[in-house]
Amino acid sequence: TPLSIAVDGPSGSGKSSVSKAVARSLGLAYLDTGAMYRAATLWVVREGVDFDDQSAVAAAVRAMPLVQTLDPVDPGVALAGQDVAEAIRSEDVTRVVSRVATNLDVRAELRRRQREIIDGETRPGGYSAGRGIVAEGRDITTVVAPDADVRILLTASEESRLARRSLEVRGTADAESVAAMRDQVLRRDRDDSTVTEFTVAADGVVTLDSSDLDFDQTVAAALQIVSR
Ligand code: CDP
Repeated sequence: TPLSIAVDGPSGSGKSSVSKAVARSLGLAYLDTGAMYRAATLWVVREGVDFDDQSAVAAAVRAMPLVQTLDPVDPGVALAGQDVAEAIRSEDVTRVVSRVATNLDVRAELRRRQREIIDGETRPGGYSAGRGIVAEGRDITTVVAPDADVRILLTASEESRLARRSLEVRGTADAESVAAMRDQVLRRDRDDSTVTEFTVAADGVVTLDSSDLDFDQTVAAALQIVSR
């Protein structure tokens, strides 16, 4: 059976870039589940649904016409045929994504779609069902794909997570930018952790701490875990 790899971790742990590199190196498909929660958030905003109306939010997400391509070199995200890969990373989406991600009916719907993609029932973007996959997020090792062949929890100290995030979003990791990111990142971690456990590795999940590793070293360490 094709290889399945699950990677979880908090914001700024490097899980997206590391997961993409691992998928590229092993010739696997790549699924960013965070992109699904971000797309759902954008969809709810665009549909004009009230965030506080939990059942309307869930109904909108069940009807969401989302198509992701699974190419780790250029993962595509389309909503109703429109490319939203950039729009879902906007500050406006990031600020409210946890509100949608803590809706349990939304989670059930997105988990169902994620399992279909991981199992190969639905594979847009030219990656056939026979191909292995790297899927990353917050609850992949524990809830979505607890039977994945390899399960990794990517962690990093708060300090290095904030520095990475700041570099990603603001292009700098000076003290002022890091401080400006702090509240938002920590609040999102706190909100997310009410519905997902992504700080402590579950049984059988290998923890990889990237605090003192650069990007290449982290990828090498992840590949090492995969190969053992
Ligand atoms: O920006 P960052 O890498 O921290 O997060 P992301 O992977 O893009 O995920 C964005 C948001 O989606 C998270 O803050 C969670 O609220 C939600 N999420 C989730 O609840 N479960 C997942 N498996 C993946 C993401």
